[in-house]
Amino acid sequence: MDINNDISRVLFTEEDLKAVCKRLGEQITKDYQGKDLLVVGVLKGSFMFIADLIREIKVPCAVDFMAVSSYGSGSKSSGVVQIIKDLGDPIEGKDILLIEDILDSGRTLSYIVSTLKTRNPGSVKICALFNKPDRREADIDLDYEGMLVPNEFIVGYGLDYNQNYRGLPYIGVLKPEIYGGKD
Ligand code: IMP
Ligand code: MG
Repeated sequence: MDINNDISRVLFTEEDLKAVCKRLGEQITKDYQGKDLLVVGVLKGSFMFIADLIREIKVPCAVDFMAVSSYGSGSKSSGVVQIIKDLGDPIEGKDILLIEDILDSGRTLSYIVSTLKTRNPGSVKICALFNKPDRREADIDLDYEGMLVPNEFIVGYGLDYNQNYRGLPYIGVLKPEIYGGKD
């Protein structure tokens, strides 16, 4: 058994992902000069991306994490978003940069953004490694976008299917027969 055999094709290599982190880190470094930056990672899918991205951010920044449930165990959003783990500290006045693995329907991020805005942060911006615009339902835009991806189910580099494949160092398209061919 080898999880690499469940991948139909590689979409982004390790080198591609490194280059994306570098580009985004440079933009963020430029934009957050003199700000009170708090990077908020949305678990679990963003953990690898955050680890790499933060090494490319050269301004002072704090890091915290939130976890929400939105997908259950399948490949399609349930539409129900719930906070499983909240931030450790108040965010009043802080410049929040939300980090997500992928913006799909947009329901997860729009829920998180509206929740955080009630806590009077200085600003809230959004960075996602991947954007799947074909599936958008919520009215939400990215401030920092890694790569556009087609309407296919991708795994690796933190992204899962049924909690598996997160450890793949690249991004691959999952064979449709693995998730029943529906999305
Ligand atoms: P949204 O609320 O539909 O935007 O869902 C975003 C979340 O769905 C992401 O944080 C991922 O956890 C998950 N997701 C969406 N598309 C994919 C995919 O292609 N592969 C893995 N996870 C995905
Ligand atoms: Mg996620």
